[in-house]
Amino acid sequence: MRMQGKVAIVTGAGSGIGSATALRFGAEGAAVACVDLSIESVRGTAKAIEASGGQALALAADVTDERACARVVEETLARWSRLTTLVNSAGVRPVAADVAPPGDEWRRVVEVNLTGTYLPSRAAFPALRAGGGASITNLASIYGLVGGSMAPSYAASKGGVANLTRQLALNWAPHVRVNCVCPGVIETPMTEKLRLDPAWTETVLKKYPLGRFGQPEEIAAAVLYLASDEAAYVTGVALPVDGGYTAI
Ligand SMILES: NC(=O)c1ccc[n+]([C@@H]2O[C@H](COP(=O)([O-])OP(=O)(O)OC[C@H]3O[C@@H](n4cnc5c(N)ncnc54)[C@H](O)[C@@H]3O)[C@@H](O)[C@H]2O)c1
Repeated sequence: MRMQGKVAIVTGAGSGIGSATALRFGAEGAAVACVDLSIESVRGTAKAIEASGGQALALAADVTDERACARVVEETLARWSRLTTLVNSAGVRPVAADVAPPGDEWRRVVEVNLTGTYLPSRAAFPALRAGGGASITNLASIYGLVGGSMAPSYAASKGGVANLTRQLALNWAPHVRVNCVCPGVIETPMTEKLRLDPAWTETVLKKYPLGRFGQPEEIAAAVLYLASDEAAYVTGVALPVDGGYTAI
């Protein structure tokens, strides 16, 4: 039980990587507040944790709403009296890998992916500092480390997440460790439409030395390491979990 005694908030817990992370945390002994835009989407995750004997809370909140982020922390503290762990997995992809998307699309992607990482972190910081053994793990991307066939809004938002991670790791040390994971293409609803296109899949897979896309559970395993006390001396890192994509 690598998360025994931890109390975690996981945003984007209704789907994909966030859901896999919340489930893994629950299985490893953490109490988990599962957060997503709609309560329906997180109920399934929370129920699955409880069905396996874990403790969970389902909360609806928009991570771009500062008050909603504060409420998530309050409700988590009301239930478990402490907070040790935050995972920022809520995120969006641009509709198309447009080389020059309009301002609305740019603002939406940066608002959810970057501002939506900062606001929950800021809301959680006082409780995390008091909680002891605390950490924040953000979901950046390989496109936060290198350029590629990606819309500028997404690449900029994830580059922002990677450097926000480093900055908060400095600002909030030694109280709260802050790291991020940089996944390659992972088989979640976010990438489903892209992966349905055989030409896209064939072209992109050539860039992956391991010759396949990743599974959400493989990202959850990296998040688990960074959030657990096994990583007690690790802060400010951007860990690629990408089948070797960024090694080329
Ligand atoms: N899937 C990939 O290939 C991949 C690769 C690199 C990075 N990532 C990042 O990992 C994270 C999780 O991605 P995923 O693949 O699980 O995506 P997903 O679409 O399966 O899940 C994302 C979740 O975030 C929620 N969300 C979106 N906007 C929100 C908001 N404003 N407030 C609260 N919740 C919100 C969605 O409702 C959804 O449930 C994202 O930050 C994504 O950018 C994913």
